[in-house]
Amino acid sequence: MFELKEKIAVVTGGARGIGKGICETLAKQGAWVVIADLLAEEAAATAAEITRLGGKAMAVKTDITDLMSVQAMVSTIKDTIGPVDILVNNAGWDRMKPFLKTAPDFWNRVMDINFKGVLNTIYAVAPGMIEQNSGKIINIASDAARVGSTGESVYSGAKGAVISFSKTMARELARNRINVNVVCPGPTPTPLLDDMKAEDAFADKILSSMDKIIPLKRMGTAEDIAHAVVFFASAEADFITGQVLSVSGGLTMAD
Ligand SMILES: NC(=O)c1ccc[n+]([C@@H]2O[C@H](COP(=O)([O-])OP(=O)(O)OC[C@H]3O[C@@H](n4cnc5c(N)ncnc54)[C@H](O)[C@@H]3O)[C@@H](O)[C@H]2O)c1
Repeated sequence: MFELKEKIAVVTGGARGIGKGICETLAKQGAWVVIADLLAEEAAATAAEITRLGGKAMAVKTDITDLMSVQAMVSTIKDTIGPVDILVNNAGWDRMKPFLKTAPDFWNRVMDINFKGVLNTIYAVAPGMIEQNSGKIINIASDAARVGSTGESVYSGAKGAVISFSKTMARELARNRINVNVVCPGPTPTPLLDDMKAEDAFADKILSSMDKIIPLKRMGTAEDIAHAVVFFASAEADFITGQVLSVSGGLTMAD
């Protein structure tokens, strides 16, 4: 079950945090993993670690906010290992602040990384999947999009846009046997969360109390999220598209 041998998977933001867990877990299932991240050194280190453990991985420095950079990454993969079978849109970014304390530069950065980055990668990858008449796209959104999250106004809007866009892409690409699904992590310790806590006392207070609030009484791990991604990437999920799955220990129980 959940066999991914011979599949080529691209994971944006795969150098660290949740993306790193996704890369490691996809590689364990046999996939060839391409880490598309801005952090070239960390991405190369993650690829080396996967290779050392017997998996197949490579890093390609990519800025998902730049369509040309994304298109160059997709061409590099096609020329070196083959066409992309699985796209995991994981790269994301946020800082916690009340909306009225934010400014347009911040809104643009949040939208560019969390929403427009997903437009860029799907725009670059989907034509190859259409040619192959198969593919799996898994977008990482957030429970913030499903139920709101104080201090994450623009981010929750961007992730909500990812969910709506994913549902429409699932409809448009279904005729090409391409499945598009969304995984929504709950609070999961990663460098992103560490930065948010370090920079803001409010974020620190909220995030530090999460393990008491979450029904399953712990924060998530990168592996928890990765298992849901592997499921959506596998043949076992061939008849599932346009769906949203929260992996958050029951913190949110959205319809
Ligand atoms: N950690 C959480 O609690 C949590 C909760 C809900 C959703 N998420 C989502 O999960 C995903 C992963 O988050 P994380 O916590 O592991 O974050 P992280 O900051 O630890 O890792 C994100 C990775 O994305 C990369 N990245 C950022 N901007 C990029 C760009 N323009 N181009 C290419 N790569 C870029 C970073 O270099 C980094 O390696 C994000 O989409 C985030 O919004 C995280």
